[in-house]
Amino acid sequence: MGTIASYHHKGGVGKTTTAVALAAHAAASGCRTLLWDLDPQGAATRLVAADRGLDGGIERLILDGGVLADGARPTPQEGLELIPADPSLRTLDRHVVDDGDRLRAAVAGSRDRYDTVVLDCPPSVSATAAAVLRAADLVVVPLTAGPLAWSAYADLYAEVDAMTAEHRPEVLAFLTMVDRRKRLHRDLVDVEDDPPEGFSTVTVPTDSRVERMAIEPHPLRAVLTGRAGRAYAQLWEEVAALLAGVDAPPAR
Ligand SMILES: Nc1ncnc2c1ncn2[C@@H]1O[C@H](COP(=O)(O)OP(=O)(O)OP(=O)(O)O)[C@@H](O)[C@H]1O
Ligand SMILES: [Mg+2]
Repeated sequence: MGTIASYHHKGGVGKTTTAVALAAHAAASGCRTLLWDLDPQGAATRLVAADRGLDGGIERLILDGGVLADGARPTPQEGLELIPADPSLRTLDRHVVDDGDRLRAAVAGSRDRYDTVVLDCPPSVSATAAAVLRAADLVVVPLTAGPLAWSAYADLYAEVDAMTAEHRPEVLAFLTMVDRRKRLHRDLVDVEDDPPEGFSTVTVPTDSRVERMAIEPHPLRAVLTGRAGRAYAQLWEEVAALLAGVDAPPAR
């Protein structure tokens, strides 16, 4: 089993879209997949067309020894289950301050049931974020294309390093919401022929279908097909290869 966290301390950079996209591609490729919405805003829950709310709240899953499957529900996508967002997630910081390995233990307890677990993290530098990073084998970091993308990556890498002292996950960053009509974006993407270590050559384009996902009858199509969907398919291949400890296939 591999655990992927979609993380960035900043808001609105594409974490949830990435978590949902990777979970959808994992399930489509035959992996038994769990997407855990850890953000009380519940954007991932909305995007997979599920209702919020967890019986017994987050406490049941991380304190009472419940297995994650107790909180999971099916989604319209075959092979993909979701633990929806719940208001009790606001207490998660408090619980993981007591024991930073609670999330990690909860995920490990579901090793037999899922091949892939994807964690959608709220935007913060917090005890919750640190616990999410400690639970992850791989942290996927969406960076919005812009002049500060490389320095944002360096800052983030240092942050992951500091938060995960003795358990360091792999980090894979990539550029998203790239608009090739903008010279700044083209220049940034073209530098990527020789990306820094831990940086994917995959770039996810700006795609209006992704923006409309929340109001579409089949929201996952926007990240499974089309321009953004093809990029996310490549990113999933790279992620799967990293989790399997093998070289990723070259980006097409
Ligand atoms: N490739 C894309 N093309 C167009 N819009 C995108 C793309 N990726 C993400 N977006 C849009 O950008 C906004 C922010 O994306 P998302 O919710 O995934 O970010 P986030 O980092 O999870 O935000 P938050 O910090 O609030 O949790 C959303 O409106 C989303 O639809
Ligand atoms: Mg989000």
